[in-house]
Amino acid sequence: MEVIRSLPRMTEWSDQMVRAGRSIAFVPTMGYFHEGHLSLMRMARKQAECVVVSLFVNPIQFGPAEDLSHYPRDFERDKAMAAREGIDVLFSPEVKEMYPEGALSKVTVDKLGLTLCGASRPGHFDGVTTVVAKLFNLVRPQCAVFGSKDFQQLAIIRRMVKDLNWGIDILAHPIVREDDGLAMSSRNTYLDKYSRPSALCLYNAIKMARKRVMAGFSEAEKLVIELRELILSYGNVEIEYIDIVDRDDLMTQDKINAESFLVMAVKVGNTRLIDNDHLGILLGNIVTRI
Ligand code: PAF
Repeated sequence: MEVIRSLPRMTEWSDQMVRAGRSIAFVPTMGYFHEGHLSLMRMARKQAECVVVSLFVNPIQFGPAEDLSHYPRDFERDKAMAAREGIDVLFSPEVKEMYPEGALSKVTVDKLGLTLCGASRPGHFDGVTTVVAKLFNLVRPQCAVFGSKDFQQLAIIRRMVKDLNWGIDILAHPIVREDDGLAMSSRNTYLDKYSRPSALCLYNAIKMARKRVMAGFSEAEKLVIELRELILSYGNVEIEYIDIVDRDDLMTQDKINAESFLVMAVKVGNTRLIDNDHLGILLGNIVTRI
């Protein structure tokens, strides 16, 4: 595995691959790998001849009061894990090279970044789309793999790729969960032993929503009220949002349909957790009663 730090070397490597007719699958990450990241890498491996993983803690997607300086990092550990997965290139550029002084451009996907997580994290998704756009230009992949846990990020990146005619296949890997159902996240390391049990409120809300939908319940607003009650029955939690939205335009829905996703952001202690579930997919499994 080659570790690439410089932007010119990254484009040189990609150019060589493109000229040799070799396909590239790309996994963008902010490091501190866990099983979730490794599953993205394995999915990428199946898609193309070469796999590039980027490791870059992107400062412009963190707000002033967010956890940039505390974001967990361990380059040597990540490097060993990526090498074990048979990754071809670990691309880990320096902040000053990615964002040289005087850079003025950014990429914005209008509207979609203003709701849900975007409402409490102004500018966050502009930071994500700008870095992902730059990474796509440097790595030149045919496909890129993202985790489904970041539901809104995925919708925005898909929209950016479509609007900008990039022709890159955006693949979503299903959420990878701990044995008890907590969605894997680098931020789970912030949960202490008191808040860890309460973090299960998210997965338990998902299980309850699935049950309700499979029993034929389709009133989105009423379901959200029930889920809110369930989550608030846990200690030390603060709901940022719970909503049932359309997978593409992220608009709140009245009725659950095939495109419906349950989306949630909850603060457990000091840790902000997100989770989501494709409720619409269960509609085919509805138990009909005579
Ligand atoms: O999902 C992430 O880890 C980040 O938002 C991403 C896509 C790597 C951009 O910094």
